[in-house]
Amino acid sequence: MTANAALQPEQPNDEQNRAHLANAANMVQLIRESWAEVEPYSEEVSRFFYGMLFSLAPATRELFPVNMEVQRSRLLRALVHVVQMVDRPDELTPFLQQLGRDHRKFGVVSEHYEAVGTALLAAIKKHAGDSWTEAVERAWAEAYTIMATTMANAAAADEGPAWYNGEVVHHERLSWDMALVRVRPEYPVPYQAGQYVSVEVPQRPRLWRYLSPANPPSEDGTMEFHIRSVEGGWVSRAIVGHAQLGDQWRMGAPMGRMHVDRSSERDVVMIAGGTGLAPLRAIIEELTQYGGNPEVHLFYGGRTRDDLYELRNLQQAAMSNPWLKVIPVLEDDPSAQGAEHGTLADAVTRHGAWEEHDVLVSGSPEMIRTTVSRMLVAGTPLERIHYDPFTLD
Ligand SMILES: Cc1cc2nc3c(=O)[nH]c(=O)nc-3n(C[C@H](O)[C@H](O)[C@H](O)COP(=O)(O)OP(=O)(O)OC[C@H]3O[C@@H](n4cnc5c(N)ncnc54)[C@H](O)[C@@H]3O)c2cc1C
Ligand code: HEM
Repeated sequence: MTANAALQPEQPNDEQNRAHLANAANMVQLIRESWAEVEPYSEEVSRFFYGMLFSLAPATRELFPVNMEVQRSRLLRALVHVVQMVDRPDELTPFLQQLGRDHRKFGVVSEHYEAVGTALLAAIKKHAGDSWTEAVERAWAEAYTIMATTMANAAAADEGPAWYNGEVVHHERLSWDMALVRVRPEYPVPYQAGQYVSVEVPQRPRLWRYLSPANPPSEDGTMEFHIRSVEGGWVSRAIVGHAQLGDQWRMGAPMGRMHVDRSSERDVVMIAGGTGLAPLRAIIEELTQYGGNPEVHLFYGGRTRDDLYELRNLQQAAMSNPWLKVIPVLEDDPSAQGAEHGTLADAVTRHGAWEEHDVLVSGSPEMIRTTVSRMLVAGTPLERIHYDPFTLD
């Protein structure tokens, strides 16, 4: 709590808040302990969950991918992951509001939330054995209700469309496993630089994936995406290999909270791995429209030089924008000149703790995990580090 908040008379609820958080922490503990009992059987839990959901609300079957074997546990995994965040309402609430708006693209309506909740509790209860007590049941039910209500209310309050249609107007292979795709939506998607959107492509119906626009909102609404094909990836391989001019994409409501606060006094460190560059590039491009900006150090990492597909453009931007410093970081190319070597975590922490900076981290879940934990050890305050925290892959 800040000193300022302590002085604000309109917030007499500190005690209630503390009690609420203690209660939430207790709920999380009960949820974690019971989930640990069930997790070894997650295949069976998942099968039971979907079986029950589809019998309670048969219409929901249509919302899921045709071949459920591909990703049977995606929603269940997500639910369990998010339920455990119930003691972090400051992060959870805005995320759930965005997720609720985004869920409209699946065709989710408010009645479905009850069926999902019932199926979730029944599936866990069935496999939890003796660890399923009244208190445990109450904890799951309360946590789920908080989440479902937040999502459903945000969805109901949103007057925008459930998704935006857009046409592929450019597809370019940047390398064997990378493509740049530009999509022109019928109506501009109301995103901010640094956010991401869920995308469905015609080659993979009902398999929505998050992608981050690499440009800030433009006048005609065109969005640029950088996609790397991952091994065995259903959607990324289809986009890189088979997206075509004229393809119709669908895009959900924007999500994410990464941004640069220009009104803050703090300078910024950006850390980008691979296509994690996209949202940071969008923010940088937006900043170039202003005269004065905080100083930005961008650490841009990959295995070899070829991975740094945007390096030349970024270095050019740095020449005309003195507030921008670009530091290439190569993991597997020790002889390359003009770059730092090692992982992004190595390179960033070599320069100290960056205590006075805002830090934005974007990349694969593993890169984010490693970088954030190394920075914490180096002394960077947790509240200065920003990343989109609810990724599940
Ligand atoms: C907030 C956010 C923003 C994103 N922005 C972008 C973006 O701008 N450009 C982009 O190319 N991707 C981006 N992604 C990743 C993207 O959403 C997909 O997860 C990725 O393209 C893989 O989807 P797929 O269907 O090909 O793979 P799946 O069929 O879903 O998975 C196949 C296999 O690949 C593994 N896998 C999944 N994702 C990754 C990954 N990122 N790295 C390594 N292995 C993985 C899975 O664990 C699985 O084993 C973003 C993800 C998030 C959460
Ligand atoms: C509190 C309630 C809920 C939470 C926290 C939640 C969360 C999530 C998350 C995080 C994802 C994964 C997105 C991704 O990684 O691509 C997801 C996917 C999905 N959710 Fe929800 N969800 C909730 C309720 C619902 C409800 C009520 C429905 C309606 C049946 C629903 C239908 C779906 C579908 C169809 C998918 C995609 C499934 C897939 O790709 O396998 N969700 N959900």
